[in-house]
Amino acid sequence: MLDQPILVIGSTGKTGSRIATALNERGFPIRHGSRNADIPFDWEKPETWERALEGVSSVYVSYFPDLAFPGATQKIEALTKVAVKARVKRLVLLSGRGETHAQNCENIVKSCGLEYTLIRASWFAQNFSEGYLRDPVLDGKIALPARNVREPIIDVNDIADVAVAALTEERHSGQLYEVTGPRLMSFDKAAAELSATIGRPVRYIPITFDEFHASMTEIGGEFIADVFTGICRETLDGRNEYLGDGVQRALNRKPRDFADFCRVAAASGTWSEAA
Ligand SMILES: NC(=O)c1ccc[n+]([C@@H]2O[C@H](COP(=O)([O-])OP(=O)(O)OC[C@H]3O[C@@H](n4cnc5c(N)ncnc54)[C@H](OP(=O)(O)O)[C@@H]3O)[C@@H](O)[C@H]2O)c1
Repeated sequence: MLDQPILVIGSTGKTGSRIATALNERGFPIRHGSRNADIPFDWEKPETWERALEGVSSVYVSYFPDLAFPGATQKIEALTKVAVKARVKRLVLLSGRGETHAQNCENIVKSCGLEYTLIRASWFAQNFSEGYLRDPVLDGKIALPARNVREPIIDVNDIADVAVAALTEERHSGQLYEVTGPRLMSFDKAAAELSATIGRPVRYIPITFDEFHASMTEIGGEFIADVFTGICRETLDGRNEYLGDGVQRALNRKPRDFADFCRVAAASGTWSEAA
């Protein structure tokens, strides 16, 4: 099994890139799951899946753009079937907390017949440094329909560490790891910590779901706005206001703190260009 590659779907993304790097550094053969890889993988082209999964021992699945998008459940189900046919041994799914569609996908993976690990993650800290909230941080205004809800924001490096363990060690088989950061934080507090680290004002602006929908429509159109507003309605209603113990259970250590994320991201220069 060790000479067979591990397929990392989303290997150029926030979690996948870190997982691919870590596996590579440890000497595990990897196959990049990217539309631009030598053997391309495209969620929109199911005809690419069989070749991408051929001869693979394990697969990390991060779905793009989000498991809440229409069609995601069907694609996850179809992918598991191709993986079973290709005799893949183990599948590690990145899922989201408190999301109905994500949990439907988890159930598909649980019953597909492969060894599996489910990583159910809270909000990513790297949304602020590499994702759709980077520009708002540079702008000094983070507008979200989150009122004063507190979220245990997680550093994606911890998700990557859990995924690497799950892909390479036996003991994570059949586990559901609910992975979160170590602190419940309001978005006001997150903005204040970003501001203190960056040395420029960054404010959290609570907005209504309708205002959020209108701003998302401007950026990505009505369909994208509908899906993302739906995700916010589901996940920012207080249901996720508790800490998970997935990082501790999988890795026997505490998760990284948001303050450490801020320091590392600032040092990388990601927020420097507006200076
Ligand atoms: N953001 C959060 O706070 C959060 C919280 C919990 C769970 N999640 C889950 O995290 C997952 C995303 O993971 P991530 O943030 O690590 O990924 P990501 O950074 O959003 O991007 C993953 C990669 O997807 C690839 N991609 C785009 N379109 C594709 C297509 N049609 N077929 C195949 N690949 C495609 C791109 O690679 P190429 O251009 O190289 O193809 C991109 O680099 C989502 O399913 C979401 O539900 C997110």
